[in-house]
Amino acid sequence: MKKLLIVYHSQGGKNLEMANAVFAGASHDDLKGVEVRFLRAFDATDQDLLWADGIIFGTPENFGYMSGAMKDFLDRTFYAVEGAVDAKPYCIFIGAGNDGQGALSSLTRILKGYKFKEIHEPLIVVGELTEEAKVSCEALGMGMAAGLEAGIY
Ligand SMILES: Cc1cc2nc3c(=O)[nH]c(=O)nc-3n(C[C@H](O)[C@H](O)[C@H](O)COP(=O)(O)O)c2cc1C
Repeated sequence: MKKLLIVYHSQGGKNLEMANAVFAGASHDDLKGVEVRFLRAFDATDQDLLWADGIIFGTPENFGYMSGAMKDFLDRTFYAVEGAVDAKPYCIFIGAGNDGQGALSSLTRILKGYKFKEIHEPLIVVGELTEEAKVSCEALGMGMAAGLEAGIY
């Protein structure tokens, strides 16, 4: 079994809805070879990063940066996993108010330090979370899980 970690933060519910859609896509019935772990950033640990074959990170943008909860997760795990997670594939989703670029650049910069490998363009949803955007979230989860299952990352 391949292992996919979805780790997210949400204060107001939008990123939770996005994470749920990502999880639904990654848990599609056709994907029998992937185990998915779905965790809030506050609950995730270094062990989850070591366990995972791939990771999907989801965060709002707060004050032009990733959420404090996601930063806390990275602060707590970096030295514990350094050197043991090189080249693990990852992708990002961001639910923001009107921008998202600050969350994206701050998160991407730190994930470079983990030496993770980005395998999909980030999905940024500003404003209202439409049904179409939820479908994109599902596709992100499904694509990542399918790629892991097929061993292409
Ligand atoms: C304290 C705070 C700061 C925020 N700063 C930004 C920001 O800098 N840029 C932006 O696009 N949205 C900003 N927002 C809006 C949130 O990113 C947006 O409402 C997002 O959808 C919240 O996601 P959530 O419902 O999952 O918590 C901010 C919201 C809060 C509460």
